[in-house]
Amino acid sequence: MITYIDQLDLAEKRVFIRVDFNVPVSGETVTDDTRIRAALPTIRHALAQNARIILASHRGRPKGKADPKYSLKAVGLHLSRLLDNAPIIMPETCVGDAVKKLITDLEPGQLMLLENLRFHPGEEANDPAFAQQLAQQIDVYINDAFGTAHRAHASTEGMAKFVPEKAAGFLMRQEIEFLSRIVAQPEKPFVTILGGAKVADKLGLIENLIGKADKILIGGGMAYTFLKAKGFGVGTSLVDETKLFAAKRILERAEARGITILLPVDHMIAKAPTEDAVVMATGSEEIPPGMMGLDIGPKTFEVFRRALQGAKTIFWNGPMGVFEIPSLAHGTMELAKVIAEIDATTVVGGGDSIAAIVKSGVADKISHLSTGGGASLEFVEGKELPGIKVLHQ
Ligand code: 3PG
Repeated sequence: MITYIDQLDLAEKRVFIRVDFNVPVSGETVTDDTRIRAALPTIRHALAQNARIILASHRGRPKGKADPKYSLKAVGLHLSRLLDNAPIIMPETCVGDAVKKLITDLEPGQLMLLENLRFHPGEEANDPAFAQQLAQQIDVYINDAFGTAHRAHASTEGMAKFVPEKAAGFLMRQEIEFLSRIVAQPEKPFVTILGGAKVADKLGLIENLIGKADKILIGGGMAYTFLKAKGFGVGTSLVDETKLFAAKRILERAEARGITILLPVDHMIAKAPTEDAVVMATGSEEIPPGMMGLDIGPKTFEVFRRALQGAKTIFWNGPMGVFEIPSLAHGTMELAKVIAEIDATTVVGGGDSIAAIVKSGVADKISHLSTGGGASLEFVEGKELPGIKVLHQ
């Protein structure tokens, strides 16, 4: 059983909150603060309880060394603005004597944001000595970093056992509730849409969805590996040659189980994914030599649109094309609008799909936008995430 933050008394306690502030920053500006906003209910609750709050996160992959490019300073300033300019103590590091003293002196109702945990090699190594250092003066450990729950790192897993009380935050609760609906008993018909470039990351998920989902729609870069496995010409499109056999096997298994896997029946193609690319529709599955598939075509869009009608649960992860380029964004952006209009539980995961939902202006019509990319995929794949497992009492 998991304890949640609102079941604990936090008053005056030193409460360590692991958040996922792995957000994009350009210069001094946070360019997408979705993950910071998602952590606000937990932070506000701890403030209202008069806790002494120590926030901690990673950002990027600095490989165990301090690197100003991955500092959390801009994130701290942004968070302060979101909290009506509440002062936030921001030490230069995440452990050590200076940090220890600051934590000792922290008053009830005060907030501190440690510097990037991955500046220390002990974080990703899940080094027990580092985990113990993080846990040293802490009374309560809260994990609200769903986006990092698939990593067994010192702050997401290791330190929990060195702290007297532990619980999940509100964001973690929301993520678990919505994603469990998909894993456990999704209301039928259940349609999954998968896209994005990396087919290898999603094969396990597709395997797990066969038997659960009624239909699986595959678009984006990953579709070309499936199409090549079926014998279609894919030109110079992205293909993971090492996964052709696995893709073929999945298609056969789905067919044997009566699960519909829909692949693109036409494509938007160009020589390369550039802003000034001359883009055209193929009209069929075949992509001519020298050309790349870069978005689903109009016929595929129509097939996918129809396949979604009547769905009661929809899970979407991964764009249908190179949607950052306007001439290649149509499939992804229009699909976002279609999903938004359907009367179903709709769950969208992965940074790119969420960006497309936000850009299409339909974010408020989606039941749940997951803050986890890899974490939501692994959750739906049926894996037990270490950052959640460790919270079980
Ligand atoms: C994410 O953005 O998916 C999480 O913050 C985890 O980051 P990571 O893939 O670098 O571990």
